[in-house]
This record gives sequence, C-alpha cells and structure tokens, in this order.
Amino acid sequence: KEIVMSGIRPTGFLHLGNYFGALRNYVRMQDEFECYFMVADLHSLTTHPDTKELKGHVHRVLAENIACGLDPDKVALYCQSHVYETAELYLYLNMLAYTGELEKTVTFKDKVRQHPENVNAGLLTYPVLQTADIILHRASYVPVGKDQEQHLEMARKFANRFNHRYGDVFPEPHAFNYGGELVKIPSLDGTGKMSKSENQYATLYLADDDDLIRKKVMKAKTDSGPTEPNSVMPDYIENIFQLMRLVSSQEVIDKFTADFNGCTIRYGDMKKQLAEDMVNFIAPIREKAESIRTNEKYLKEIMEKGAEKARKSAKATIELVRNAMGLNYY
Ligand code: TYM
Repeated sequence: KEIVMSGIRPTGFLHLGNYFGALRNYVRMQDEFECYFMVADLHSLTTHPDTKELKGHVHRVLAENIACGLDPDKVALYCQSHVYETAELYLYLNMLAYTGELEKTVTFKDKVRQHPENVNAGLLTYPVLQTADIILHRASYVPVGKDQEQHLEMARKFANRFNHRYGDVFPEPHAFNYGGELVKIPSLDGTGKMSKSENQYATLYLADDDDLIRKKVMKAKTDSGPTEPNSVMPDYIENIFQLMRLVSSQEVIDKFTADFNGCTIRYGDMKKQLAEDMVNFIAPIREKAESIRTNEKYLKEIMEKGAEKARKSAKATIELVRNAMGLNYY
C-alpha cells in the first residue's frame, strides 16, 4: 500500500476549510492507503508559544478528526511531539535547507509581516519540520488544501536533495486532493480563505451551534442582485455558490443558478437555504466531537496507540537515514 501523511495545527477550532481541504480526503484515503495523520503541536509553537490552551486544542483536534469519520483503528492518529524521531530527521534536514530559500517562503513572509516581534528560527524552518513529518513515513501522498502547495514543493525539494546527497531513501511526496486540483474554501466576507484565526465571523467552525451558523451565513456579503441576464458573478457571490456546492443538493444549486441567470435571485432566500444545509452538515459532527472531546480516557488510548504505530514506521526510516548518511559507526 502507498503511504499517506498529513497534519493539522492545534491553534484553534477546526473549520470548513480544514474539512473540505484536508479531512474529507483523509476519510476517503483511510480505506485505500496506509495513513499517518497527526496533530501538529510542534508547529503550533512557532506562532503560539503560550501553551496554556494547547492540551484543550489537541484534544479538540483529535476529537474533530474522529467525528469527521477517521477511524483510529484504520489509521495512525497521533501527536507530532510524541514521535521523537521527527526531531532527529528535522535536524538532519536543516543541514540540507538553505536559509535563502526558506526566507522566500510565502507563509514565512506573511508571518514576519504579521508578527515582526516574534520572527523565531522555528518559523523560518517551518517547512523543514513539515518535510520531516512527511518523509519520516516515506509518504507519497499528502492531502492538504491549496495554501500548503508551496510547502509541498519544498518537501519534494528537500527529499530529492537528501536522496541526491546520501542515496535513495525517500519517495517524492505530492499534495493530494480527490478530484485533482487542491481546494481553497473561501471566507464568508468575500475576502480570502477561511482560517482558524482571521475574522472569526467569516469562518464556519465545526463547533459552531445552529444559531451561530445561521447568523454567520446570513451576514455573508451579497449585493442587490444582477440587473442583466447572464451577468458575470462577483467573487463574493461565486463564493456562496461554492459553499452551496459543498453542502446543498444539486436541485437547490440548479435553482439558484437559474435564478441568478434570470435576474430573479433573492439572496436572502439563497442564504437561508445555505444556512439550513450548513446546519444539517455541521450539527452531527459538532455533537459527535463534543462527546469524544470530553472523554479523556479514550483520547489517551488513541494517542498512545497512534504514537506506537507512528514510531514503528519512524524508527524504520531513521535507521535507513542514519545508514545512508554514514552515521553508523559500529
Ligand atoms: P493548518 O493547520 O493550517 O490546516 C490544516 C489543513 O487544512 C487545510 N486548510 C484549508 N483547505 C482549504 N481551504 C481553506 N480555507 C483551508 N484552511 C486550511 C490546510 O491546507 C491543511 O491541509 N503546515 C500545516 C500543518 C502540517 C502538515 C504537516 C500538513 C504540519 N506538518 C505535514 C501536511 C503534512 C498547516 O499549517 O495546516
């Protein structure tokens, strides 16, 4: 079986972007591949050094992964910091990554702009740690959203550089999405993508209650509607259609598309429909996650079992790495 690896940072509540960019793929892939999915707690330290809320977030991410359909018996579901081999491979890879190329990473430049007071070395080498996560299991496929495309390019570059310098150990890892193109789920305010931290009113979280979901969807940006048949759709309207395509029936989508083209669309009605379809989609996940999240004994078992599976694979890779590098002295 080919190997799959991916991760999510425990920096806040998971949202619809995490679901449709990543989790939806995880759930389908678990039946086809050997899968390693983790909570990227070490990565979250690059931007969230205060760890008071970390435990709660780790529990939440694990619970939400399972509530979305991941089966801890089928996959290795673990915490990054429990797999110490990650740190060792990260160290070796840091000697292969040039500061010049790391400084050019878009996510690094964004973070420097957002938090000039905390430009730590971990932030610079973030893509190196992510590469270590992936190639530690010699994974070929990495289900992620569009925002991770550049990190995956870098992972390929570092894996190839290692192979070239020390001998073939790693397959090339590729970003993956069923359906081909990687996805970017838009925010509700018509600007950018949904994210854990930016404008919380424009992001739908898997933990939002029904009324909050309705409120957020009803506030999504619209206008007074098209004035000519078959007009070009503004981006923010296209975004609402994109969200409908994720959770609404084909019939509903066809109706509102025809209404738009015929200039009879009522955005209030469209958002009401979308809100109900969102509620129906999110509510079961929220309820399931809530019961798992508070079951600490179960989560501990999951984490222990996940770490054991992940470390077995990690140890085998580290052995190959040390041998390839000539770090075997007796
Ligand atoms: P993170 O925690 O920011 O996001 C987790 C996953 O959700 C996807 N995602 C989205 N997809 C579509 N539309 C959106 N609006 C949207 N927002 C988030 C992300 O692409 C990601 O797949 N660096 C990673 C975590 C990581 C990792 C790894 C991923 C650490 N090690 C190894 C893969 C393999 C991150 O910050 O994801």
